[in-house]
Formats: sequence, structure tokens, C-alpha cells
Amino acid sequence: MMMSGTVRAVVALVALLTCCVRRVHSGGASNILLIVTDDQDLQLGGMTPMKKTQLLIGDSGATFVNSFTVTPLCCPSRSSILTGRYPHNHQVRNNSLAGNCSSLPWQSGAELDAFPVYLSKLQYQTFFAGKYLNQYGEREAGGIGHVPPGWDQWHALVGNSQYYNYTLSNNGQEEKHGDIYNDDYLTDLIANRSLHFLDNRSPLHPFFLMLAPPAPHFPWNSAPQYQKHFEDVKAPRDGSFDKAGKDKHWLLRQPISPMLNTSLTFLDDAYRKRWRTLLSVDDLVEKLVKKLEDIKELNNTYVFFTSDNGYHTGQFSLPIDKRQLYEFDIRTPLLVRGPGIKPKQTLKAPVLNIDLAPTILDIAGVNMSAANMDGQSFLSIMAPSMRNGSARAFFLVEYTGEGLTSAEPACPKLGPGLSQCFPDCVCEDAFNNTYACVRTLDGQEDLQYCEFADSESFVEVYNLTADPHQLENVVKKVDPNMLQTMNQRLIKLQSCQGVGCRSVT
Ligand SMILES: *[C@@H]1O[C@H](CO)[C@@H](O)[C@H](O)[C@H]1NC(C)=O
Ligand SMILES: *[C@@H]1O[C@H](CO)[C@@H](O)[C@H](O)[C@H]1NC(C)=O
Ligand SMILES: *[C@@H]1O[C@H](CO)[C@@H](O)[C@H](O)[C@H]1NC(C)=O
Ligand SMILES: *[C@@H]1O[C@H](CO)[C@@H](O)[C@H](O)[C@H]1NC(C)=O
Ligand SMILES: *[C@@H]1O[C@H](CO)[C@@H](O)[C@H](O)[C@H]1NC(C)=O
Ligand SMILES: *[C@@H]1O[C@H](CO)[C@@H](O)[C@H](O)[C@H]1NC(C)=O
Repeated sequence: MMMSGTVRAVVALVALLTCCVRRVHSGGASNILLIVTDDQDLQLGGMTPMKKTQLLIGDSGATFVNSFTVTPLCCPSRSSILTGRYPHNHQVRNNSLAGNCSSLPWQSGAELDAFPVYLSKLQYQTFFAGKYLNQYGEREAGGIGHVPPGWDQWHALVGNSQYYNYTLSNNGQEEKHGDIYNDDYLTDLIANRSLHFLDNRSPLHPFFLMLAPPAPHFPWNSAPQYQKHFEDVKAPRDGSFDKAGKDKHWLLRQPISPMLNTSLTFLDDAYRKRWRTLLSVDDLVEKLVKKLEDIKELNNTYVFFTSDNGYHTGQFSLPIDKRQLYEFDIRTPLLVRGPGIKPKQTLKAPVLNIDLAPTILDIAGVNMSAANMDGQSFLSIMAPSMRNGSARAFFLVEYTGEGLTSAEPACPKLGPGLSQCFPDCVCEDAFNNTYACVRTLDGQEDLQYCEFADSESFVEVYNLTADPHQLENVVKKVDPNMLQTMNQRLIKLQSCQGVGCRSVT
């Protein structure tokens, strides 16, 4: 077929624009894909079922073996990912509105400074799908009509993770879903909508996608084809599994130890179900990487895979949850591939969830001094040919415990102040499970120092070189000068801000 003169001119113009925009961007503006799962641990084998993700992201780039959240609970951690700030600076303390989870003060404060806002200013085409913040879409949080700034395409879950029977905000409009696998399964829906977005993007500008599937969070609905997988799998029995936490803070001295059979059955079942839900996330990763290849953008796209916090199943006789200062709850998976990142790297430098925003902005070429972030870019660590930089030696982990103002209905004997008391009335959180830690990891020392805001001002100290499973609290054995140095450092970190967080000594 012959092209008319006009059509030919338009084709030539589009080709010209495409070429030149690409050339402008080739110095900095790569595409970015960020996948954040919900409660996926690293320490207890959380990545084991995700073979394709390990191959397509980790083996094609960098696997970080020391990736941490600065706070092991969904809403505060996600707020840290979005803002690059510690909780004491974004002020989201727990999963409730009163603790600022997706609250109006968050919306008129820190959310205006979240990293997607900066990407949008650079004309990135932005897309979000999945769980945002636990209270998102609730009436008191502005409802479904609230679409946070910076997002062109917005498909966010109302409330906490669900796989079926949920409501989405589809660019501010209510969209209700039932429980038919082919129409509603949320992990698949996130994959499908992101593929559609990539097919319909403009070639003139780079793109950013953030995908936040519900897996492997409760209620653990797996896809029908995966419901019989892992029938012989059990939660790992090594390390601190079912060890009594006698030398630990008050909450860790309460669990029934050894655990009852009902707890063991419950946690093994949870462990298997969590893995099954992750198989659909593994499929999502494969679909996305294949699509990027098909549209010839794979080699110009950074793909990040991580989780908001870790998880435990039976450690220190705590049946299931997160919220603790121990490694199983604060360590997260982190795999990254992209331009300048050599394949098959295993990287030991400690990196934090508050580093994701500065790293993404660094990739996009944003001048970061504007953004007032506590984290730091780790682009230099994974792509040393592109940036100079050095790793941090220590960082802060801070957590505000959640409680109920009256006793848990199922466990009236326990009284108020506790929460997450299941199964067998073992509570995993309390108002006074409020703590702050300095975690040192500098290639020589591997230490953790934590102070509790409880009536005992309890202190826990671990030498993870000698005791990787944190079985022995060595607070009474270490040099008191060391405790004093750590206490001083902790005080400075707890009030640090922006670049100041990187110069604490
Ligand atoms: C919630 O955020 C606002 C504004 O940042 C702050 O003034 C308030 O103290 C925060 N609430 C809590 C419980 O931290
Ligand atoms: C979805 O809701 C319907 C109606 O309440 C209920 O019958 C069904 O069991 C729910 N499905 C799931 C997977 O929770
Ligand atoms: C996703 O797309 C596939 C392929 O088109 C389709 O079979 C499936 O039903 C879709 N799932 C959802 C939840 O949209
Ligand atoms: C708990 O399970 C173990 C191993 O399956 C079994 O030997 C034991 O008798 C059970 N205890 C109770 C109280 O059911
Ligand atoms: C990316 O791959 C395409 C082919 O798919 C190739 O033409 C292009 O040169 C590659 N770009 C880089 C930066 O490697
Ligand atoms: C969350 O934090 C707020 C403010 O401190 C507090 O009022 C509320 O009780 C907390 N929620 C839970 C479940 O602990």
C-alpha cells in the first residue's frame, strides 16, 4: 500500500521525535518497574517458591542479601518506601487512621512529597496497581475519590490485602470485584492491567510502574492451579524456631513454649498457603519481563522486586506475624536488574526500604536535595560504573506497638493493651512493644542494640556474628562503654532528618 505524502511526513516526524527523546533520555531516564509484595520474608525461605523471579531479576542483575525495612509493619513501611523517610519523619506510626495511615494529615503532608510526584514532574508516565496503604479509600481518608498526586493511572485496593471480594479505586471511581478467578483474582488483575498500560504507553516519555500484589498476606487465597502445591512443605524448624525468649522483653516472655499442636498446625498451614500465593506473583514477574522484552524496553528498564517487611512462623514460639525487631521480621528480599547492573551479583552492602525512593529518583535524574529524604541512593552499589558512593555502616529501626484499648474478645483474660492474639491467645503485639534499634553492619561488626519504651526500659543486644539467630541477649555481658555509645547514636538517629541521617556518627 502506498503512503500518502502527509502520512509519510507524520511517520518521519514521529520517528524523529522518538529518536531524539530517546537520545535525551539515554543519559538518565530509564524506565522503572517496582514490585512490592505484602509480608514476604527473606529469612525463612520466602523467595524459595519464586524460581522465575530469581532467574529473571536476580540472576540477570543484583541480589541484595542485607536488605532491611526500617519498620516491620505494612503501613509505616510502605509510607517509608514512598517518601524515603524514617517513620519519625513521615509520622505514619501504625496501620490505623489515628496513627496516620493514609490519613488526611498524611495526604496534606508527606504524600505530596512522595517520589512518584517527582517522576511525574519529569513527565514519566506513571501507573499504580494493588495495595497502597491499609486505610486507603476509607471514607474518613477521603474515600475512593482520593487519587494521590503523581499517578496517571491508579488502580488501588481499598483497605488491606484481599485476593477476592474487594473494591478498587479505578482512577477515583469505585470498581467492585467478586470471587471468580478469571475476572477477579487480584494478583492476575494487577498483571493484566500493567501489560495493558505498557501496550498503550506513549513512546515519547519513560514509564514508571509500581505493582503491589496482596501475596503472601492473609487470607492466602491461591490461584486454583496452585492449591495443591507444596503439600509436604512445613515451616523450617531451625534457628530460633520454638525457642523460649526468656531473656527478651516482656512480650516475648509470654508465648506458650513449646507451642501447642494447634499453633504448629496453624503455622505450617499458613506457611504453605503463603508460598502458593507467591506462585502467581512469580507468574506476574515473568509476564512483565516478557512484555518489556517484546516492546524492546527491557534493556532500558530497572526492575526492583522487594517486600514491605519480613515475617515469622514459630520463631521464639510466636506463631505468625511480623512487628518484632528480629532479623526474620526486618529483613526483606531485594532483587534489581537494569542498565549498568552486571548479572549474577550478590551484594552485601546494607540497603533499606527508605533507599528505594532516592535510588529511583537518582535513576530518573532528579536533583535529590529537593526531596528531603533520609535514605540514600544505592545505584553506586549495584552499578559502580554509573556512580561513585559508599555504603552506610549502621541504621535505625523504629517501631510503635499496636494494641487494643479493651481485651481481645477471644482472650478476655489477657486484658487491654495487646493485639494479634491468635492462635492460642499468644499475642504478637502490644502498645509497649515500642522500640528503636541501631543495627550495625559494616563488614566487621554485625550488631543490634535496641531500647524499649516500656516500664522496664528494656534493652536487647545481639552479636549476630556469634549468634545469627539472636538466641542470647548479651546486654549484661558487653562493655558498658559500648552500650553508652550505642545509646548516644540511637538518640541522634531517632531525631535525624534528611542528609543529617547519613552523617550521624
Ligand atoms: C500525624 O501526622 C501529623 C502531621 O504530620 C502530625 O502532626 C501528628 O502528630 C501525627 N500523628 C501521630 C500519631 O504521629
Ligand atoms: C466472596 O463473597 C461471597 C458473598 O459474600 C461469599 O459467598 C464468598 O465466599 C466470598 N469469597 C471469598 C473467596 O472470600
Ligand atoms: C488476565 O488475562 C488473562 C489472559 O488474557 C485472562 O485469561 C485472565 O482471565 C485475566 N485475569 C484477570 C483477573 O483479569
Ligand atoms: C502433638 O503432636 C505430636 C507430633 O505429631 C504428638 O506426638 C503429640 O502426641 C501431640 N500432642 C497432643 C497433645 O496432641
Ligand atoms: C537494547 O536492545 C535493543 C534491541 O532489542 C538494541 O537495539 C539496543 O541497542 C539495546 N540498547 C542498549 C542500551 O543496550
Ligand atoms: C495507632 O496510633 C494511634 C496514635 O498514637 C493510636 O491512637 C491508636 O490506638 C493506634 N492503633 C493501634 C491499633 O494501636
